[in-house]
Amino acid sequence: MKDFTYYTPTDVVFGRGAEEHVAEMVVRHGGHKVLVHFGGRSARDSGLLDKVLGQLREAGTDFITMGGVVPNPRLSLVKEGIALCRREGVDMILAVGGGSVIDSSKAIAYGMPYEGDVWDFFTGKAQPDTSVPVGCVVTIPAAGSEMSDSCVITDEAHDDKRGFSSPLGRARFAIMNPERTFTLPKWQTAAGVADIMMHTMERYFSPDTDMDLTDGLAEALLRSMKENVFKVLEDPRNYRARAQIMWGASLSHNGLTECGLQRDWACHKLEHELSGLFDVTHGAGLSAIWPSWARYVYKENVGRFVQFAVNVMGVPNDFSDPEATALSGIAAMERFYRAIGMPANLPELMGRQLTEDEIRELARRCSHDGAITVGNFKVLNRKDMEAVYRAANR
Ligand code: NZQ
Ligand code: ZN
Repeated sequence: MKDFTYYTPTDVVFGRGAEEHVAEMVVRHGGHKVLVHFGGRSARDSGLLDKVLGQLREAGTDFITMGGVVPNPRLSLVKEGIALCRREGVDMILAVGGGSVIDSSKAIAYGMPYEGDVWDFFTGKAQPDTSVPVGCVVTIPAAGSEMSDSCVITDEAHDDKRGFSSPLGRARFAIMNPERTFTLPKWQTAAGVADIMMHTMERYFSPDTDMDLTDGLAEALLRSMKENVFKVLEDPRNYRARAQIMWGASLSHNGLTECGLQRDWACHKLEHELSGLFDVTHGAGLSAIWPSWARYVYKENVGRFVQFAVNVMGVPNDFSDPEATALSGIAAMERFYRAIGMPANLPELMGRQLTEDEIRELARRCSHDGAITVGNFKVLNRKDMEAVYRAANR
C-alpha cells in the first residue's frame, strides 16, 4: 500500500434547494466582489442564474457576470476573464455550471495574481504560489472539478488541451442540488457517467493492488453509477438516482478512490488529445478509448480485470479460465457503454474512421513527440499509444 495524503477542503452543501445557500457560502469564504461565471444557455434557461444573482443582490454582495464558457473551455476566454477581474477588483469566482465553467473559473483564479501568461501553469513552465478563491454551483455531474485539484483548458489557437493539478485548484465550496440536473439531455447525462466511472477506473487499474478498502469503495461507486444511469435515462426527474450520480461524480475525483494506490490516467491522456484536436465530448472520448486500452493492457494483471469483471460488471467467474473472465468483463463494459448511448470505439465517436496520419498525430501529441510516456498499469510509449488508437479505430 502506498503512503498518501488526502486533502479535500471543499465545503459541500448538497440536496434540494442547496443553491439557496449561495450568498451565505460566498460570505463564509470571504467573497466581497464576485465574478459569476457561466456557460451557454442552460443556467439562464433553467432560472438558476437569476436565482443565484438574486441571492447575491439580497445579501448585498457586489458582483459582475461573464458567460460564454463552452465545453472544452477556451484559453482566450480565461484571459478575458483575468483582465476583467483585475480591472473590477474581483476577489472570488463563482462558477455556475459544469466542469467547463468550473475549470475556466479555476484558470482565471490562477491567472489573476500571476504576472506571466496563465498558460505557463499548463505547460509546466511555472507553478502558482496563490490563487483567488473559487466556489461553484454545480449543474452537471461529470468532471468532478467541484472537488478535484484539476483544471483542464484548451488553447484553441493550437488545438492543445492540457490539464494542470495543484492543491490550490480545490474549490472552496460546492453547492449541489440534484434537481438542477433534471434538465440534462440524455447524451450529457450518459457522457457524464462515463467520465465519473473513468475517474475511479483510472485509479482502480493501478499497479498497486493491496488496498482492499479503497477497492471496495471504488467498486461500490462504479456499481452505483452503472445502475443509476439507467434510472435517470428512463426518468430524468428521478431525484434519488440523480443524487447518487451527483455525489458519485464528486467522490470519484476528489481522491477518495485512490488512497493507497498509484493512479493510471492513460485513457484521460489519450482522450485529451481527441477532444483537443476534434472537440469531442470528454466522456464520449473516454468510452471510445477504454475497451481498446483495456484489451491492450489486461495481461499486465489479469486478476485485476477478473476482479473488475466479477465485482463491478457482474460477470460470472470462470475460475478455470481467468483470461476469459477478464475479457468478458471488458466486453460487458463495452455493451454497457452502447446501452447508455456512448460510443465504444472511434468510428462510433467520430462518425468515421480516423486516418493513419491522424492516429500518428494523436500519439505524437500525447507523447510530446516521443518525450513522455503515459499510464502506470502499463506504461505506454508513443508506439503503444498508436496501437491503442489504431485498435479503437476498428
Ligand atoms: O453551456 P451550457 O448551456 O450551460 O450547456 C452545458 C454544456 O453544453 C450543458 N449543461 C450543463 N448543465 C446542464 C446542461 N444542460 C442542461 N441542464 C443542465 N443542468 O452540458 C454541456 C457540457 O457541460 P460541461 O461543463 O462541458 O460538462 P462537464 O462537466 O462534462 O465538463 C467537461 C470538461 O471538464 C474537463 C473535460 O476535459 C472537459 O473540458 N474535465 C475536468 C476535470 C477536472 N477539472 O477535474 C476532470 C475531467 O477528467 C475532465 O477532463
Ligand atoms: Zn474525466
